Amino acid sequence: MSSRNFGNYPSLKGRVVLVTGGASGIGAAIVRGFVAQGAQVGILDYDAEAAAGLAHDLGSGCDWEYCDLRDIAALQRAVAALSDRLGPVTVLVNNAARDDRHGWQDVTTEYWDERMANNLRHMFFAIQAVAPGMAAAGGGSVINLGSTSWVEGMGGMPAYTTAKAGVHGLTRGMARDLGPQRIRVNAVLPGWIMTERQLELWASPEALEARKAQQCLPELIDPVYVARMVLFLASDDAAMCSAGIYVVDGGGS
Ligand SMILES: NC(=O)c1ccc[n+]([C@@H]2O[C@H](COP(=O)([O-])OP(=O)(O)OC[C@H]3O[C@@H](n4cnc5c(N)ncnc54)[C@H](O)[C@@H]3O)[C@@H](O)[C@H]2O)c1
Repeated sequence: MSSRNFGNYPSLKGRVVLVTGGASGIGAAIVRGFVAQGAQVGILDYDAEAAAGLAHDLGSGCDWEYCDLRDIAALQRAVAALSDRLGPVTVLVNNAARDDRHGWQDVTTEYWDERMANNLRHMFFAIQAVAPGMAAAGGGSVINLGSTSWVEGMGGMPAYTTAKAGVHGLTRGMARDLGPQRIRVNAVLPGWIMTERQLELWASPEALEARKAQQCLPELIDPVYVARMVLFLASDDAAMCSAGIYVVDGGGS
């Protein structure tokens, strides 16, 4: 059964939201979702063309800063620049990552460290950058994008699955530390989501059929469904939800 009557969250109107990796894929669906709710969204991304294009499409509800999130000093500068323009961030969506495949035999220490920097480290430092402003504003919501890949025991990308398992620990640890300031920290674990990149790289007819058979719900999952869970967790409707792990995978894991 499908419906066009999706959630509307008055508490998100005017809220300042930061989305890392918001230029494309799930991040772009999240950005569009927040703008539709009347929030003020700032994107951090290193895909300048896609970020500028999306911000142009969305008009005054969306701003962006170029940032390679592997560079923590650049991340801190970009968060400060967006906060200066939009006001203190009270919703942070730590979304950016790259699921590049790699054989375990080929991983060097440099590659391992680079994968952690791209898939996990920036999430902690983004939280560290926005938490004081959230505390001063009386609270906030952090949503970290994990993955069901490590839960399912997927192979072929151990540095990615390790980082994604780390998102779980980051979420629960920081939820404890920031709870007294009324900052909620949750994780959303997508299953296989049909972004442009996934469709281009991995979506053979056989793989899509196998995934549908694995899921309880037999439809492929559009990024908008992940965005809807993120909107809920950002809103005041989720006021007592923290340290939670919310799965959006059609029952596939
Ligand atoms: N698509 C899926 O099937 C799926 C499944 C499980 C988890 N996820 C998670 O969902 C999140 C979004 O994934 P997606 O599929 O939309 O990815 P995507 O590759 O389609 O988009 C990622 C975005 O992040 C940006 N980005 C990546 N690394 C960056 C960096 N170092 N600095 C700045 N920007 C950077 C990219 O430019 C891009 O705009 C990720 O955390 C991913 O691990 C996705």
